[in-house]
Amino acid sequence: MARILIVYQSATGHTAQMAQLVAEGAEETGAEVVVKGVEDTAAEELKAYDGIIVGSPTYYGLMSAPLKKLFDESVAFHHELTGKVGGAFTSAGNIGGGNETTILSILQAMLIHGMVVQGTSGRNHYGAASVGSPDDTAVETCRKLGERVAKLVKKLHG
Ligand SMILES: Cc1cc2nc3c(=O)[nH]c(=O)nc-3n(C[C@H](O)[C@H](O)[C@H](O)COP(=O)(O)O)c2cc1C
Repeated sequence: MARILIVYQSATGHTAQMAQLVAEGAEETGAEVVVKGVEDTAAEELKAYDGIIVGSPTYYGLMSAPLKKLFDESVAFHHELTGKVGGAFTSAGNIGGGNETTILSILQAMLIHGMVVQGTSGRNHYGAASVGSPDDTAVETCRKLGERVAKLVKKLHG
């Protein structure tokens, strides 16, 4: 069965809400999904999953420091995440507040790990984005992100 970790950081709850929605989308495909706050996640745990989806608030157009620390700690097992499927989501304060650059900062780290990242020709090409708490559109894009990652995990990892 496809095993997916959703790891997020959230100071005021918006990214946490998104994490649950992404999980719903992945679970609908039958995947086994674990949702964890970054504060409860050891970098070593990343190795145990076929798919890893990271959610961060947009902080100065980048992922937040605790998530960057998680990636920095993952250098201890560099090469071992190769071929896993990645995805990213963010909540920002404003439209054009750096949400896409935040998602790309996460995807960059994943690509450096040799992970596989799929965009979409539909809404939110790089990953799911929300302004503040997810509205109806963001609810949909979060669920679709979870579904997309889970389906690709199934294709690649059976
Ligand atoms: C340190 C800090 C930096 C931020 N930087 C940005 C930013 O660059 N652009 C933006 O639109 N919002 C920015 N925000 C607002 C947050 O991204 C926004 O409130 C988000 O919804 C918080 O998500 P959370 O509820 O999961 O913590 C920043 C907030 C903080 C605390």
